[in-house]
Amino acid sequence: MRSGRSQTLAWKIPLFDTDFGAEEEEALIAVIRRGWVSAGPETQEFEREFSEFLGGPEVVFLSSGTASIHLALASVGIGPGDEVIAPAFTYIATCSPVLWLGARLRLADSASLKNPNISPETVEGLVNERTKAIIFLHYAGFSEGIAEMARFCEERGIALIEDAAHTHGSVSGGRKPGTFGKVGCFSFFANKNMTSGEGGALVTFDKQLAERARRMASHGRTAAAWDRFRDSALKTYDITEMGYNYKATDMQAALARVQLRKLPEANRKRVELVRLYRELLSDIPGLVIPFDDYESSANYIFPIVLPEEVGRLSVMESLADAGIQTSVHYPAVHTFTYYRKLFPELRLPVAEELASRELSLPLYPHMGEDKVRFVAEKLSEILRTQGRN
Ligand SMILES: Cc1ncc(COP(=O)(O)O)c(C=O)c1O
Repeated sequence: MRSGRSQTLAWKIPLFDTDFGAEEEEALIAVIRRGWVSAGPETQEFEREFSEFLGGPEVVFLSSGTASIHLALASVGIGPGDEVIAPAFTYIATCSPVLWLGARLRLADSASLKNPNISPETVEGLVNERTKAIIFLHYAGFSEGIAEMARFCEERGIALIEDAAHTHGSVSGGRKPGTFGKVGCFSFFANKNMTSGEGGALVTFDKQLAERARRMASHGRTAAAWDRFRDSALKTYDITEMGYNYKATDMQAALARVQLRKLPEANRKRVELVRLYRELLSDIPGLVIPFDDYESSANYIFPIVLPEEVGRLSVMESLADAGIQTSVHYPAVHTFTYYRKLFPELRLPVAEELASRELSLPLYPHMGEDKVRFVAEKLSEILRTQGRN
């Protein structure tokens, strides 16, 4: 056990554990010693490396995944009078930026318990002449339906924005998620497949859009601090549009660069652990494990859908008694108090069923097979004996 890691020790098996080591420490120290800690050379290097990793899009490194979704919507011109379709079964950050921009949020249902992603079928009835964008979440790192959604958007002139917060390093039809649509949005939050503590990236093959997003991330300025430091001819700057402060730091970029190098091996380990989980849980009656294509997934989390008659809370409590941390990804957006007011009548049966039956089991690359076996055994035992109500 490494020192200084007390917050995860309360759990025998935490839901997630970061993998930071000597390489991250050295990278951070190097940035601090260099003396330029805000967005600068390290950020540029990370943007170049992440672009290469994704197959060449423009990359704008940002302070969070939420910032990347906000800027994606802003840079495709979403505003009052526009409608944006997004999944109801997602993290709230997929949706809230739509409202910040004064646009109308339309929530779409998941395709099925087996495929929690949205699909052309679940969004079709929501599309009208005001629909300017659709946000597609690759839930848990799975891209099922993304090619169909890209086609659907293309045929209708709708901007496809990918919430790729769960998909670092996965592949779908030979392509990296985040590059199917107009803009891809990544998060590097602490529990993601690769992390810079907080952080995000906006990716796009549209150079103009990337430039606009980069400006908007820096108050709408034509030249940021690092540009002016490098280029003595740039004495001042102009503000050419409304902007925000969504810049990340070179310290975050240093962490992200190391984590990107570790990502392929870390994702391979996730695949092995998920294979074992799936094998061990395959015989539980009524249990659904979403998706099948786990070998090409980023496997950000390991979600299961509990049998219908099982009380999820009691299962979570029994697992907690055994030292196993679990979580729910996610409550449905329209069922939150604030959003209920916006969608008082909305019913989305699949998203609601997923939200009430989904359970995320521990998963992180260095977890080890013994812990997977322990969790699977405990869960099977609980479901046999005390999970039913
Ligand atoms: C699906 C999804 N979208 C967006 C975000 C927002 O990312 P961040 O926390 O980096 O703002 C997250 C993660 O937290 C997420 O899981």
